[in-house]
Amino acid sequence: MEPVLSENTHFYEPRLGHGLPHDPFNAIVGPRPIGWISSRSAEGLLNLAPYSFFNAFNYVPPIVGFSSIGYKDTVRNIEQTGEFAWNLVTHPLVEAMNQSCAAVAPEVNEFELAGVTPVASRLIQVPRVAESPVSFECKLTQLTQLKTAAGEDVPSWLVLGEVVAVHLDRRLLKDGIFDTAAADIVLRAGGPGDYFRIGPEQLFKLYRPR
Ligand SMILES: Cc1cc2nc3c(=O)[nH]c(=O)nc-3n(C[C@H](O)[C@H](O)[C@H](O)COP(=O)(O)O)c2cc1C
Repeated sequence: MEPVLSENTHFYEPRLGHGLPHDPFNAIVGPRPIGWISSRSAEGLLNLAPYSFFNAFNYVPPIVGFSSIGYKDTVRNIEQTGEFAWNLVTHPLVEAMNQSCAAVAPEVNEFELAGVTPVASRLIQVPRVAESPVSFECKLTQLTQLKTAAGEDVPSWLVLGEVVAVHLDRRLLKDGIFDTAAADIVLRAGGPGDYFRIGPEQLFKLYRPR
């Protein structure tokens, strides 16, 4: 088949540049859930940072993962201890989440910087964010450096972890069902500052064909 290039299509090969004022990739693959990841260094220093190259990868057992663009403190901590916690970012927590992304020295505790409270987890040594209505306690399953299609190393690391414990604010359960719309979840989109806030207006239902 001949490749079809319509006049209405902006086509580009990312390795050669996108030719636009801003790279559209983040805006297209979005809005994305945010992994607000707490971790602890081998020496016991606490860390908290947002990662929006984040998602869920398995149901049973639940596995979540995120990608660190560069070998950041969070990755180093998780490589050292094999543990991390994921915390849900809701609208009341956006300012704190944003504060926690500051590029600060490893000894700076971003829980303090962001003004949120570390609370002890049950199965891991890493605290979770008390103010977040949902947290996952995770154990590292895979830590992989990313590669290009040509097999060259990319300075980015994919961290995958099994969710071994879940803390869930019961107020978000309606008849036992987690109410995503009521959670006031915030998602990251493109550009320097685009986010989306999810509420009941965004909800519609679609069932798989039988
Ligand atoms: C909403 C949001 C999403 C982010 N997503 C990522 C990401 O997916 N990967 C990444 O490497 N950095 C991401 N960052 C930047 C990191 O949070 C930032 O580099 C932080 O300082 C890393 O902290 P650490 O060195 O303590 O791990 C994001 C920042 C914000 C505000």
